[in-house]
Parts: sequence; structure tokens; C-alpha cells
Amino acid sequence: MSANDLPLSQPADRRTETHDSAFLRACRREPVPHTPVWFMRQAGRSLPEYLKVREGIGMLDSCMRPELVKEITLQPVRRHGVDAAIYFSDIVVPLKAIGVDLDIKPGVGPVVAEPFRTRADLARLRDLTPEDVWYVTEAIGLLTAELGATPLIGFAGAPFTLASYLVEGGPSRNHEHTKAMMYGDPELWADLLDRLAEITGAFLKVQIEAGASAVQLFDSWVGALAPADYRRSVLPASAKVFAAVESFGVPRIHFGVGTGELLGLMGEAGADVVGVDWRVPLDEAARRVGPGKALQGNLDPAVLFAGRAAVEAKTDEVLAAAAGLEGHVFNLGHGVLPSMDPDALTRLVAHVHERTAR
Ligand code: CP3
Repeated sequence: MSANDLPLSQPADRRTETHDSAFLRACRREPVPHTPVWFMRQAGRSLPEYLKVREGIGMLDSCMRPELVKEITLQPVRRHGVDAAIYFSDIVVPLKAIGVDLDIKPGVGPVVAEPFRTRADLARLRDLTPEDVWYVTEAIGLLTAELGATPLIGFAGAPFTLASYLVEGGPSRNHEHTKAMMYGDPELWADLLDRLAEITGAFLKVQIEAGASAVQLFDSWVGALAPADYRRSVLPASAKVFAAVESFGVPRIHFGVGTGELLGLMGEAGADVVGVDWRVPLDEAARRVGPGKALQGNLDPAVLFAGRAAVEAKTDEVLAAAAGLEGHVFNLGHGVLPSMDPDALTRLVAHVHERTAR
């Protein structure tokens, strides 16, 4: 597919500008000049420049200030030389935007004032309009003006992971209320996930129309499910999200943690790129996902604490396992941790680029 064949709903100059980037080429499973690298949670608390600009500003507040979002999104691109930017926001922003009473508590995560437990709660989840998230459109406009050939990844939380925060009321180890609804009231569960799929699809569309070159659906906590339950109770909603943005022709990435047993089904949900955590080597992950998909991953984030020689050795293992893949985007198996040394991340980017230069 050439830039001219892409659908017209993306700003045309932006499509052309980023088309031949290593990141988009790898997502499309085309030859690359080097393996592209970006890090989940690359913008954030591991960077002193982030802590400085966030001083005195709440997390959700900061997501609604376009100039600040632009600056925070660009910080890791400038510092590390990563191959893609990820839009600075949080998975609960679209829920906040439609009026759900929630906050992000430092050191805890998203906390919902009144958890969702009954059918009546569905009425609290109205459709999302572009006006609800005007600041996203504005921030992406500012960003694409500065990013040049570097692609911007938009993102959203997947229906299961969003439902978990809504139903539990906050972060949860066992997802007991969520699973109670899924097993005990499958009709309400299906309706809840379908509502969340509508909202998530609309939110990703806003980001793509504003200029995002790819999107990632974070289903961070879906690894808590067995494959049969994933297929029956979650896959239809995630598939609906991917279908909602299919016509844009931008790569769609699907990521979760602890999803070794779900990789094949996650591929079936419709993504172009499947994100893999560190528990499954990429060659084995490729067998599970099947042909026709690129893979993203999968260095154990904790390796970054082990010193330079160990980081390089473990990175080379990831690259060796990725050698036969149709397309590979290097990433960590989960997000950057706040206590990571930013210089170790910068060195890691350079190492991957060096080792894979063609
Ligand atoms: O990747 C990036 O650089 C973009 C930024 C980003 C944030 N949240 C910023 C953030 C992304 C992609 C997310 C997604 C997100 N949010 C996920 C999926 C990714 C994953 O890690 O699995 C999840 C599960 C959430 C929910 C959430 N929001 C958690 C668990 C936390 C951490 C709470 C804490 O303080 O430990 C947040 C808050 C959050 N989101 C922060 C940042 C930078 C920290 C808040 C701060 O800086 O004050």
C-alpha cells in the first residue's frame, strides 16, 4: 500500500510525512532500516523534566492542557531518540470526559467515586463526542506540527480493563466484582462492554482524525482471564473497537500483560500488531499469534535495573527471538517504571538501533 492508497480521513500531509518511518514500516511488516523502538509509559515519572512541568498539577488536569500534553509527549522523543511518540494521557480520560466521577490518585491509580454494579449504571455511560475531548484534538494538532517524520501513537484502554476500573471502583488484584458480573450477569456484562467499545472506538477516531499515525489498545489486566472466557466475554467488544477504526488504515496495536495463553485470540480480535509481555519469547509468541501480524515487545522492564551488560545481553536475546518475525517493534514487556534510570533507556534505544542497522 502506498501513501496515496490510504483512506483520506487522516490529514494527508501527515500520512505522507510519517509513511516511511521505521515504526510504521515495521507495523506493516515491510523491510526496515533498523528495528524501531518505543516504550510504553515513556512519558512520565522516570523523567526529571516531566516531574518539573507536572509540579502542582493533578494528573487528569494535566491531560486537559494541550500545551502541557505536547511538551510531556515530546520529552522522551527528544531525550531517548525513540522511533515513535505516545500521546500523553491516561486510559480513564474518555470516561472522565463523559462525566464519570473519577480521579487518578498518586501511587494508587484510577479511583471511581461510585462503582458500576447494576443495569441502572449503564445510563452513566453516554456516547463520547469530539467536543468532549477538544483538548485531545488540539494537543495532537500542536504535536504533529513538531514531530515531523516521527509517528504519534494514540491509545485507549480496552473494554475489559476499563470495565475492571469501573466495576471494582479502582485497581484490583483479583478483579472479583468484575468477574462476578461477567459470570453472574452475562447480559449486563455484554451491554457494559459494548458501551465501552462504542466510547473507545469514538475516542480512537478522534485521535486518528487529529493526526495519530497508529493506535494502541491497552488491555493491561485481561491476562486475568482464561481463554474460553476471553473469547466469549471480551473478544467481541475488543473486536468492535478495532473494526471501528479499520477504515482509517492506520496500524492497530493490541497489548495486555500475562496474556501468553490469549495471544492467538488477541490476534483474532483484529489488531495488526500484537504486544507481548516478557513471559513468552517472541518466536513462540509468533507461533501463537499466527501469520499476518507484526509483534511488539518484549524486554522485561526489571532488566533495566540490572546494569548495562545485563541489559545488552537480555536485549540481544529479544532481538534473536525476533529475527524471523514478519515485523518487530521493540518495546518493554510492560511500562517504564518511575524509578528507572532514564540514561539506561537512552542507551537501550541506541543499542537496538546499532544491533539491527541494515
Ligand atoms: O505511555 C506513555 O508514555 C503515555 C502515558 C500513559 C499514562 N497512562 C500516563 C500516566 C499511558 C499509555 C497510560 C495508560 C494506562 N493507565 C494504563 C495502561 C498501560 C499499563 O501500564 O498497563 C493503565 C492500566 C492506566 C491506569 C493508571 N493510571 C495507573 C495504573 C496509574 C499509576 C498510578 C500510580 O501513581 O502508580 C495511572 C496514573 C498515570 N498515568 C501516571 C502517568 C504518567 C502517573 C501519575 C502521575 O504522574 O502523577
